[in-house]
Amino acid sequence: MDKINSLRGMPDFYSDDLISWTPVENKLEEVFRAFSIGEIRTPILEYTDLFKRSVGDTSDIVNKEIYSFDDRNDQSISLRPEGTAGVIRSVIEKKLDQQQSKFWYMGPMFRYERPQKGRYRQFHQAGVEFLGYQEGQADFELIALVCSIINSLDIKNAKLKINHLGDKDSKIQFARSLVTFLEPYKDQMDDKDIERLSKNPLRILDSKDKKVQEILENAPSLTDFISESANSLLASIQKTFADQCTIEIDNKLVRGLDYYTGLVFEACSSDLGAQDAFIGGGRYDNLAKALGGKDMPAIGLAVGLERLISISSVLRCDEKKVIFISSTSNITPLAFKIANKLRNANSNISLDMDLTDSSIKAKLRRANKTNATHAFIFGDEEMNNKSIIVKSLRDDNEQVSMSIDECIDFFKEI
Ligand code: HAM
Repeated sequence: MDKINSLRGMPDFYSDDLISWTPVENKLEEVFRAFSIGEIRTPILEYTDLFKRSVGDTSDIVNKEIYSFDDRNDQSISLRPEGTAGVIRSVIEKKLDQQQSKFWYMGPMFRYERPQKGRYRQFHQAGVEFLGYQEGQADFELIALVCSIINSLDIKNAKLKINHLGDKDSKIQFARSLVTFLEPYKDQMDDKDIERLSKNPLRILDSKDKKVQEILENAPSLTDFISESANSLLASIQKTFADQCTIEIDNKLVRGLDYYTGLVFEACSSDLGAQDAFIGGGRYDNLAKALGGKDMPAIGLAVGLERLISISSVLRCDEKKVIFISSTSNITPLAFKIANKLRNANSNISLDMDLTDSSIKAKLRRANKTNATHAFIFGDEEMNNKSIIVKSLRDDNEQVSMSIDECIDFFKEI
């Protein structure tokens, strides 16, 4: 029979991988709680229209990368490529779009991208959305959160790039002048950039083509189209957080999702390679209205967990472990009772019951190859005199026979 493989770009994770995930996820949750942000969980599947109307049907994400299919009722549904759209859909549905709220979420997202290091088709994000807050304090608070994430996860060589896209009108005016400027250079562009020029001109600023980047050096700049107050917001953010994080104003930063309006930002690290952004976010004041809700200014971010985990120096949790080796001859109910008492006495240690039918000697040999600190041996003799042998697996100390209560006390202190 042919074996069935996983889908490309959708890796499995085993405990050896997850041992570095859990401390990072816990730390992020700690930071979110310290900022008094509440958790929200929304479904992984949503109607496709939600993403068309939010992320945008001119964006690469919706155009080429979304996993969409018809359900049994012939309705087009999609695996979420990001979390913001679902959160806004939910707050509109619950009529929370007239108030202020702060949410965080964590979970899998799906994009049909070409897999490579740091880029997957199923990946994980931790996101935050501040809803109902005008441009101003919330923008500062969100950048403070970015700095906290970078510092509490001990991310080295991080740089935060910030930009301002202005309001809807300045974005349109800038796009128009960019098209007028680039039109004469069309014959020097590849098909992808020509398509961007007609569908979503601002995305050309992201072009990886060196020739296009050279042409863009003389192009009109977004700064000429945005207000004085937007430019001073950028300068003030840069100054306020200069002691916490390297911040650079980058007028070419446009981001790949259509819903952004004001401040946009991306945190990158030179330790990541080609896919160097590990946080992306920005303001999206028009999204709630575009999804049928009230006017609700908002700003948010998402952290790419795979990328963050690969560069975080937060300690892997060094799990303490004891191997419990019971008598080989029969299944011994007393062994399970003792194991249960031990686990109740100290849940910080994992008690690994050896479930094989091999000899005590073979079980001990295997225990020696693990990272366990001790083996607790409960053989036929120990069953008769209600004792346990405690053997250290880290040194050559003599093994010690203990009563069950003594062993429980010992287990509490490991
Ligand atoms: P995004 O920039 O598309 O923004 O994604 C945020 C982060 O997710 C990226 O910086 C990256 O670290 C990670 N990421 C994206 N695609 C992949 C992939 N294929 N494989 C691995 N990691 C990936 C958003 O998703 C917005 N919803 C952020 C936001 C929230 N804006 C406002 N609120």
